[in-house]
Amino acid sequence: MSKKYLIGLDVGTSGAKCIIANSDGKVVASSTQEYPLYTPKPGWAEQNPEDWWQACVRGLKVILEKSGVNPADIAGVSYSGQMHGLVALDENSQVIRPAILWCDQRTQAQCDWITEKAGGLEGLLTYTNNRMLTGYTGGKILWLRDEEPENFNKMVLFVCPKDYIRFRMTGKLGIDVSDASGTGFFDVRSRAWSDGLIALAGLDKSIFPEAHESTELAGTVTGECAALTGLPEGLACYYGGGDAVIQTTGGGMVKPGTMGVVIGTSGNVAMALDKYEDNPNGALQLFCGNEPGSWMALGVTLTAGGGYRWYKDELCEAESIKAKAEGRNVFDVMGETAEQSVPGANGVVFTPYLTGERCPYPDPNARASFYGLTLSHKKADITRSVMEGVTYSLKQLVDIMGSFVPGEKVYTSGGGSVSALWRQMQADIFNLPVYTMAGANEGGAYGAVLVAGVGAGIWKDLGEAVQVIKPETETHPDPANQPAYNKTYEIYNMLYHALKSVYDKSAELGY
Ligand code: XUL
Repeated sequence: MSKKYLIGLDVGTSGAKCIIANSDGKVVASSTQEYPLYTPKPGWAEQNPEDWWQACVRGLKVILEKSGVNPADIAGVSYSGQMHGLVALDENSQVIRPAILWCDQRTQAQCDWITEKAGGLEGLLTYTNNRMLTGYTGGKILWLRDEEPENFNKMVLFVCPKDYIRFRMTGKLGIDVSDASGTGFFDVRSRAWSDGLIALAGLDKSIFPEAHESTELAGTVTGECAALTGLPEGLACYYGGGDAVIQTTGGGMVKPGTMGVVIGTSGNVAMALDKYEDNPNGALQLFCGNEPGSWMALGVTLTAGGGYRWYKDELCEAESIKAKAEGRNVFDVMGETAEQSVPGANGVVFTPYLTGERCPYPDPNARASFYGLTLSHKKADITRSVMEGVTYSLKQLVDIMGSFVPGEKVYTSGGGSVSALWRQMQADIFNLPVYTMAGANEGGAYGAVLVAGVGAGIWKDLGEAVQVIKPETETHPDPANQPAYNKTYEIYNMLYHALKSVYDKSAELGY
């Protein structure tokens, strides 16, 4: 096979990451080029699509140069990108205003409006199988209609961030089904725009881009892009996917039963499904997956590693001083403290709702707490309870996913996967074997490489593509630990409901 390299491009929130990998899945060069994020008002988040494009051009040049790969040996390019961003284009495909991003919070009124129009949450779920979260593209389109009618009237089409980059590379406009799922106007069951919801909102269907499968050919590199980047003109570009979905694909989660658990600042659990499933109460995000016939269930707990970091910063000064004196990582020292306690933390239960919660309780009023403290408890119990509380929150999502298809194993990644104690805790609490996988930290760009490889025919499907990803560590549940965890998980499951009225009262009182 002569053409054996693949490019993955991830249009992230802090920067664009370009990687080039060979057909064994080995990354041979990588480059991240940053760009600014603008917050013109509190709660707003915008970026300039031209900044994304310039960063991608720089990144593509860097990886070609660093890798020394002959451009003629590249088989294809594909894309990952921050989801939900609104890039509004006029009749000449020019950007009308800065892109409104996934983390922008200006659309609550519009999300409430469309949910009510659809007959409430139950009604909305019949159209799209998802809530209309404030981050989603749909609310942003309606916000433009309500608040910037002159821009709305100029908009002939919108796309999401990675689609804009693909457009600049190929001259062709479109979206893939995974990103389309995160607009809130997509019928994920039929993998097509929800004509019913679009009509109900009074929107013109023509502003919605054509939706295609991730591995389909979207276009080829234009002469102009070739001259700017050094890529060969005519190189195949495949649609790609939204980052939350395609990074899961890139982590190896392409068959039902394998769950991906990320303990980063926030935490998430994801599982690929090979048939459509309903999303009761909209508890999860249920999106189209990266190949035909696949869907991806995603659950996000807002505070995971971020909660543990907060605990370190605010309550672990002694550990920080000790770590500094001994030239060690403070999380290792905290882990040693936690190990002096026992599974179940002697009955101390932490609820990690430091920034409210998204899944399974979509509730901005939820608050964190330590429950069960007595005079006999030690710092070790409290430290351990923070790790356990985050893991219980993830376990609730693992359980919901398990109701679709029983979990067989977990691939874990993110900062929380570095600790052997936390990996053992995950295995015990989820009651599943837990693995870390090589390359998982490449994120969405790696998923894009796999998607490009399937598009280019290097692998027959994603199931074959992920064979290139190999396990690094393997941790099995220890049955001796489980009875204690089962007890504290039972308490954990009661706490949100028991405290719900307190959360609402506190919010009313301004806390
Ligand atoms: C997914 C989501 C985030 C962004 C981050 O629903 O909101 O993962 O895509 O880039």
